[in-house]
Amino acid sequence: MTDARPQPIYLADYTPPAFLVDEVALTFHLNPTATRVVSHIRFRPNPDAKSREFFLHGEQLTLLRARIDGVDITPDLVDGGLKADVPEAPFTFEAEVEISPETNTALEGLYMSGGMYCTQCEAEGFRRITYYPDRPDVMAPFKVRIEGSDPVLLSNGNPIASGDGWAEWDDPWPKPAYLFALVAGDLVAREDSFTTMTGKEVDLKLWVRPGDEGKTAFGMQALKDSMKWDEDVYGREYDLDIFQIVAVSDFNMGAMENKGLNIFNTSAVLASPETSTDANFERIEAIIAHEYFHNWTGNRITCRDWFQLSLKEGLTVFRDQQFSGDMRSKAVCRINDVSALRGRQFREDNGPLAHQVQPDSFVEINNFYTATIYEKGAELIGMLKTLVGDAAYDAALDLYFQRHDGQAATIEDWVRVFEDSTGRDLTQFRRWYKQAGTPRVAVSEDWADGTYRLTLRQSTPPTPGQDEKLPQHIPFAVGLLGPNGDEVLPTQILELTEAEQSFAFEGLADKPTPSLLRHFSAPVILERESTAEERAFLLAHDTDPFNKWEAGRTLAKDVLVAMITGEDAPIDAYLEAITVMLRDDALDPAFRALTLGLPGQDDLAQTLFDAGVTPDPQKIYRARQTLLQAMAEHLQDHLPRMMAEMDVTAPFAPNAEQAGKRALGLGLMTLLTRLDGGTAAQALYDRADNMTLRLGALGALLQAQKGDAALADFRTRFDGDALVMDKWFAMQVSHAAPDQAVSITKALTEDKDFNWKNPNRFRAVFGALMMNPAGFHHASGEGYAVFADWLIKLDPVNPQIAARMSSAFETWRRYDADRQNMMKAQIERVLATDGLSRDSQEMLGRILNG
Ligand code: TRP
Ligand code: ZN
Repeated sequence: MTDARPQPIYLADYTPPAFLVDEVALTFHLNPTATRVVSHIRFRPNPDAKSREFFLHGEQLTLLRARIDGVDITPDLVDGGLKADVPEAPFTFEAEVEISPETNTALEGLYMSGGMYCTQCEAEGFRRITYYPDRPDVMAPFKVRIEGSDPVLLSNGNPIASGDGWAEWDDPWPKPAYLFALVAGDLVAREDSFTTMTGKEVDLKLWVRPGDEGKTAFGMQALKDSMKWDEDVYGREYDLDIFQIVAVSDFNMGAMENKGLNIFNTSAVLASPETSTDANFERIEAIIAHEYFHNWTGNRITCRDWFQLSLKEGLTVFRDQQFSGDMRSKAVCRINDVSALRGRQFREDNGPLAHQVQPDSFVEINNFYTATIYEKGAELIGMLKTLVGDAAYDAALDLYFQRHDGQAATIEDWVRVFEDSTGRDLTQFRRWYKQAGTPRVAVSEDWADGTYRLTLRQSTPPTPGQDEKLPQHIPFAVGLLGPNGDEVLPTQILELTEAEQSFAFEGLADKPTPSLLRHFSAPVILERESTAEERAFLLAHDTDPFNKWEAGRTLAKDVLVAMITGEDAPIDAYLEAITVMLRDDALDPAFRALTLGLPGQDDLAQTLFDAGVTPDPQKIYRARQTLLQAMAEHLQDHLPRMMAEMDVTAPFAPNAEQAGKRALGLGLMTLLTRLDGGTAAQALYDRADNMTLRLGALGALLQAQKGDAALADFRTRFDGDALVMDKWFAMQVSHAAPDQAVSITKALTEDKDFNWKNPNRFRAVFGALMMNPAGFHHASGEGYAVFADWLIKLDPVNPQIAARMSSAFETWRRYDADRQNMMKAQIERVLATDGLSRDSQEMLGRILNG
């Protein structure tokens, strides 16, 4: 094991930068193994600084020369950067460094992907490009000159001039170094333009590799929709002459909001009906919006330090969720967002990696781009909006932009804007940022003399390093339904601030049925005993679409948990309730499709664990299979007609309405495959003219162990299309039977197309294994072993991805002693690897000890 334990950085230690930067000029002489970067940086002592020490970050740089005010100096090269003696007054620092993009496999800093140069600087990648105060509270305008043999040479801001082998760019908006970007390569652009609300014309360019032009139309439209939406809803106008997006094949995350030059994972921007599913289209639209929205929430107003990360990410996720809700179905988007929150963030918040939305410390910031920072952060914004109301939210946002434009701000600044603009005291609400863990809200009720009384008790379980929890300020939305299903009390927002509170509703004729936590008004776990009848009643009558779906989900969960623990399962009540719902033509097909989906295996494991039952992954798997089989048989007579109504063979358009029909049609067909042995699925596969149907059919065939022919066809048909081949890899693992998942995984890692250094391909296989719990947790322990083997192999090449993927082990304490021991042994084996990255050390250390 590496000797020096990585040291944490503390929020409490924040000090302002010693020097500020007024101007940056960079010249790049591009070369795959020997790129030279010449920097001219105008520094000025920061009047607010406590220290005069001149320190610049720098990693993996070869310093060729350095000067201050034109005089050569020999700086002190120290761990992680350099130090030098500098004047008391403003001065110019110049340096020339050499870097090697081609051998940069970590995909941070300047690197090469498929022959093109590109950058990823968030969070701390700029220090691998040149010496600089690489911290977000140092903001400066950048001028960039690129010299290289590639036909297209791009950087942030507006184009100034260009010629054969060079180009110059000027970004007038002061920005932190993490928003720097450079791209060079043989690229082609889809071009368009957007006229802003004040009549300014903005050039739009979406750059791709030759051959991918046919996959750019949807992304461009999503960009224009995003620009318009941000003007209409937030009053935010774009602020440069040009906005560019570049698609890159090797990329650690989804996309990056570099000022005026967003860089995207190809998977997050390229789309065509033949190669992308409805889910892909939806995700791409959301990510394009997300990165575009960062121009105001992230770039114009950035973060003072990385402890404030949720300031930009939580808010920007909230904004992209609002956008998707406006573009598509609000109800369906909300349900999907909450499902993702429960699947990823609740898992995190209830395990060893639980952390605050505003952490107090971190070892490696790359490990904090988490569901908690992003998705829980977004929920906090939503709760604030619910508490203050829509109009007050708009006013607060106007004040936020007015007060903090051009600044590197804090979460405290954000909350204060809401206090100042509404006059409300949000002291208790701030706890949401500082207290980790998912609150539980237990509900009890009382009915007497026309008065219905709800008693709500909240508590938050301990999380690593935080044993004591205080009550949160919870907006708790409630409605009441009468016995005939009519709403007797429309949605009200109850404000919970104490550990226990009662609320009385008077003057009711009959005992009502409560619809609790409507719209999922707070990221909490509701604890309430209920009957199958009551769940079915809400599924049939609730006017809140989220809770209507939630009633079906909780009913399904009750059934599955009872099946697993060997209790009496209300299977018939469930089958009847969903049959009624599925046949209700008045309901949006997308909504009906969601109700068809059963709670996932991981969700059930957590639920059992919370109930004091050690989850058995094989039992969970079998219970779901049994219930799905029962659903298929129960719906048998209705399936053909319902499928025909979904008209899935209509000419393809990637809109929400059609996508909903395809989702329901495919869901029903997957059930039918349990009865017809795959005949319908094979027929659909053969005539599919779009990826949604093709992949849906393939999935059904794989589930039925009838997928060999379709798999072979799929590979021949899409050979050479990396994004589609990612699906080919992923499908085989995610749909593998528990006994076969590991052997299929191993076989795929031997495949000639398993380019494991490419994050999308690595994730296709190992992300899919994570999502196949019965396979990953196979009693043999081989799932754990193969996963650990590959983490060890990936870590030196791409520590960021290795560390992220190590969360496969984060639930190890949930399971039986044998599985715990096997997982623990694998975690320890990876931790004992010589030279293990700081990223993986931190993650696995927290997983093991948290
Ligand atoms: N800021 C990016 C976003 O959420 C996230 C991101 C992209 C990122 N690439 C990264 C974060 C690499 C860390 C490292 O839009
Ligand atoms: Zn973001």
